[in-house]
Amino acid sequence: MKRFSFESRTVVRTAFFLGLLFFAIRSSADDLTGNWVARSPQADGTSRVTYLDLKQVGSRITGHIRVTQFYYNIVESTGGPDTFILTGSMMDGHNERRVRYEVRRVGDALHVATRRRPDSELIEMVAHRAPAGEGALPARLPLPALHDVPDNGLARTPPMGWNSWNKFAERVDDRAVRAMADAMASNGMKEAGYQYVNIDDTWQGSRDAQGNIIPNKKFPDMKGLADYVHSKGLKIGIYSSPGPKTCAGYEGSYGHEEQDAKTYAAWGIDYLKYDWCDARNLYADEDMQAVYQKMGDALLKSGRPILYSLCQYGRAEVWKWSATVGGNAWRTTGDIRDSWESMAKIGFAQDGLAPFAKPGHWNDPDMLEIGNGGMTEEESKVHMTLWAVLAAPLLAGNDLREMSPAIAAILLNTEVIAVDQDKEGKQGDRISKSGDREIWARTLSDNQQAVALFNRGSAAAEITVPWSDLGLKSTPPRARDLWGHKDLNLSGQQYTAAVPAHGVVFLRLGN
Ligand code: GLA
Repeated sequence: MKRFSFESRTVVRTAFFLGLLFFAIRSSADDLTGNWVARSPQADGTSRVTYLDLKQVGSRITGHIRVTQFYYNIVESTGGPDTFILTGSMMDGHNERRVRYEVRRVGDALHVATRRRPDSELIEMVAHRAPAGEGALPARLPLPALHDVPDNGLARTPPMGWNSWNKFAERVDDRAVRAMADAMASNGMKEAGYQYVNIDDTWQGSRDAQGNIIPNKKFPDMKGLADYVHSKGLKIGIYSSPGPKTCAGYEGSYGHEEQDAKTYAAWGIDYLKYDWCDARNLYADEDMQAVYQKMGDALLKSGRPILYSLCQYGRAEVWKWSATVGGNAWRTTGDIRDSWESMAKIGFAQDGLAPFAKPGHWNDPDMLEIGNGGMTEEESKVHMTLWAVLAAPLLAGNDLREMSPAIAAILLNTEVIAVDQDKEGKQGDRISKSGDREIWARTLSDNQQAVALFNRGSAAAEITVPWSDLGLKSTPPRARDLWGHKDLNLSGQQYTAAVPAHGVVFLRLGN
């Protein structure tokens, strides 16, 4: 008995000291365990928010980092006792994204430094303790059973207009949108068929107590802005995400789909681009159809005709199901950049998708970069031609106030636009390829055809199209050069054109 109590006293004493030691380590100045938040205020009244939910055991740190649309697992930590380098990792489709954060404990704060890309400037911020759970991903909401969303009757030809992202990115505001509407209404674009003035990411502020979305400072009166655009005889578009956050880290529509659709309808919105972004952290690619169906239903229920444009970068064979979720257009690719390489890589990879396009439902290889400075005049003609052959949405992405006559002549080429807008809505496809030379053709209404002779090479080249390749038995009786704006007299079994480097000859063949 005596022996037993001696041992039990020892056990209690040891446990007590171990406990003290544990708390001493846990509360020591270099323990980073806990939830930390850094808020970097932005001019639009919102903040760029970074959450670091950390767990420190000795010199090892695990946990998560959440910023904009990205939610990283910490997979590596080095350093200590005051300064740590954390490596975060997340899967973006099939690609892994990694980030590196340097965190340093200074008093009650964490000094944090990172780069968006390895070669971009260092971003420094100060993080403070946040309540546990703040900034964590919300619970995954259950998804509806699949059904066919009725056709909204819009976009019988591919949508045409302008979108803010390529030129303005986060600098878009009420003034810029009004200015683009003014330009579109007065520079011939409206007459040529351009119609939608679309606000992309970064218009969102926060939600009110009832959960209604409120625009940020850049958009003081969304209804007033919509009224203004409508007064010009144009339509207005907006942007959101099925995720909690948009790609730029603004408020998404997650869990607010019907409410947001109603708000858009009340403002007078005519077009919604719905961008996957942060939804990737809650759902898998297989869930996309149900996720997009939710907003398709919500838009219909709003009672206002709102064109529905899906943006999920062409994943999950979206062309096969987009129309059934009410989609009028769906992105088939990742983001375009303002360069020949990016445009050509995207545009010439669109072969094979033609069967999925039809009036009301279009493949979307992304917005135009024409007039943004990164492409020559010839390259811009290739861009416009390819998009017309593809029956793609024509959403200009440049500053419409400052177009050179050469750029205006490309965006306003009504003969090329007529190909894009052909009422039968049959998308074209590649019919042959030889090295850098590609021939694409599109069947048009009234037994006409558009044929594009592309030279992707960096030297001028001759390109020949035999009529038989176009399914024609003889020389077409009428031919029009759509960039030369002239009729051609054809003869023989084929047509040969000298095509400039990174250039195109575009013909409409008639009977
Ligand atoms: C994604 C989209 C782009 C643009 C940005 C905005 O990258 O693909 O077109 O909308 O988000 O953040």
